[in-house]
Amino acid sequence: MSDRRPLVAGNWKMHKTGAEATEYAAALLAELGDGPVEAEVAVCPPFTALQPAAAAFAGSQVAVLAQAVHEADAGAHTGEISAGMIAATGAAGTLVGHSERRAAGETDAQVAVRVRAAIDAGLSVILCVGESLDQREAGETEAWLTAQLRAALTPFEGVHEERLSIAYEPIWAIGTGRTATPQIAQETVAHVRAVSAGLIDGERVRILYGGSVKPDNASELMGQKDIDGVLVGGASLDAASFAAIVRAA
Ligand code: PGA
Repeated sequence: MSDRRPLVAGNWKMHKTGAEATEYAAALLAELGDGPVEAEVAVCPPFTALQPAAAAFAGSQVAVLAQAVHEADAGAHTGEISAGMIAATGAAGTLVGHSERRAAGETDAQVAVRVRAAIDAGLSVILCVGESLDQREAGETEAWLTAQLRAALTPFEGVHEERLSIAYEPIWAIGTGRTATPQIAQETVAHVRAVSAGLIDGERVRILYGGSVKPDNASELMGQKDIDGVLVGGASLDAASFAAIVRAA
């Protein structure tokens, strides 16, 4: 871990209603207590729970982020929501380019304009990148991540954007219980940092690891030199388990 402040974010995916988000907030805040928390903490509820979550976490150390955003301000985009709409819920940011969104058709070009639109609207962004198992086994991981990063970060070339973080999430480790070893995670995150360095300020940008992070592996992962935090799916759904990961930071 470097002097970059760790970031621990929980991606709820398609889980929890507004009422459940409110209950979760009470439980998480009780777990974290009143003292300062070392890590920056965020949760990413589904769109329908953003507003109740933002209200329940208001004034606390926990930020609320959306899971996706559309690049347009408004318009004929059925089922989408804009960065301004996300901001109006009280949420502070959004994930962009999660592999589950990419698998549903989100392209590199869309990821790039969506990151830009969110930053321009004053939101923070966690840009997600990651390779499939086939790509890893074919030795294509680095080239693939380089291409994903170049596509998404070229609009920011030369600019350090405080509100932009990157999550490296190998697709083969998401929801599979198969975590990347700390060595593989560190090695790959170091590559992500090196590529980012050529585009934005790679020394300052926070890079997270995601993929089957649990309370019992979080601390070793976050102990790696280039890993500045974690993006947690399944293990973030329970407030006590997520709090244990926050404490591991
Ligand atoms: P997981 O999901 O922790 O359930 O593997 C991580 C993610 O998709 O962000």
